Amino acid sequence: MHDRLDTLLDRTVLLGYSRPGLLLRRASWGPLAPDALQGRTALITGANSGIGKAMAAGMAALGAEVTLVVRDTERGVAAAAEITAHTPGATVRVARCDISDLADVRRFAHEMLDHTDRVDILVHNAGVLPRTRTESPQGHEICLATHVLGPILATDLLAPALQRSGAGRVILVSSGGMYSQPLPVRDIEYRTGDYHGATAYARTKRIQVALTPVLAERYAAQHISVHSMHPGWVDTPGIEAALPRFRRLTRPLLRTPAEGADTALWLAATEVPSGKFWHDRHPRPEHYLRRTRVSEADRERVWRYCTAAAGITPS
Ligand SMILES: NC(=O)c1ccc[n+]([C@@H]2O[C@H](COP(=O)([O-])OP(=O)(O)OC[C@H]3O[C@@H](n4cnc5c(N)ncnc54)[C@H](OP(=O)(O)O)[C@@H]3O)[C@@H](O)[C@H]2O)c1
Repeated sequence: MHDRLDTLLDRTVLLGYSRPGLLLRRASWGPLAPDALQGRTALITGANSGIGKAMAAGMAALGAEVTLVVRDTERGVAAAAEITAHTPGATVRVARCDISDLADVRRFAHEMLDHTDRVDILVHNAGVLPRTRTESPQGHEICLATHVLGPILATDLLAPALQRSGAGRVILVSSGGMYSQPLPVRDIEYRTGDYHGATAYARTKRIQVALTPVLAERYAAQHISVHSMHPGWVDTPGIEAALPRFRRLTRPLLRTPAEGADTALWLAATEVPSGKFWHDRHPRPEHYLRRTRVSEADRERVWRYCTAAAGITPS
């Protein structure tokens, strides 16, 4: 597809994020090689449902050994059974971790390091859009804990295993909703003002994208690349529960979970520059609106807060 048409689709939002945009773009993509991830090991959080489950199925079909990182083991085992029924012979494991609970992330990461020599792909897919302000066991706002603090801690603890890959890849599943919010520099924990789950969600998805270049630089010497992406609008149990009206209105236009998983699969299988934000196999701008732009000092301030909260060194 011509770059200008691709950009036009992106800026219309409705067309670019929905199924028609994907179908138009996909016409010019080649398929991934059927063995594109042969011999690779992948960890995917929130992989018992929606886009995460579709990513796991897609990576297993491309030859990866996949671990579904879930907070409900029973649902994880059911998802693993579905995937192996579809791809007989696939290696699909289940590991329990509540990614919003920093103590549980530490336990999980240490168990992984004990049992796994190498991690090639780590996908931070777990996501929440809460109705009311709730906190993680360590007292952090739940979207911040789930989308940012747990992922940066897990990445840091698993970095030695990602380094052993020689080309470790970390993928943060963000959202196009982040375009509506600037970095919440003055209220990272959303303690002031009326709490809206959609705002908390978008602010923390914004933090994921803002910290992607910082993480890319942090792990570059270990040959670990870091990418963020957004899947477009996808019909999943998460959307049904959190945004029922949006789903009702847009349902014919929504992507399937497998379609939403495409860019993450492609990033897992493709050598691309680290530190960028992707959608439909193309790097996308960090901002559409001038009011969401922030200084490097603000980015640094948010990074320092998040590293202190997660208990990792900032540099
Ligand atoms: N669907 C869309 O249109 C859309 C658009 C933009 C971005 N996204 C992003 O895509 C990702 C997947 O969303 P989805 O639409 O597939 O929603 P989903 O079906 O609700 O899946 C979310 C997954 O995250 C898991 N999860 C939530 N909190 C967790 C925690 N603390 N620890 C471990 N796992 C946790 C959920 O586990 P449980 O089943 O146990 O709750 C579930 O497996 C999210 O990051 C979302 O923000 C989705």
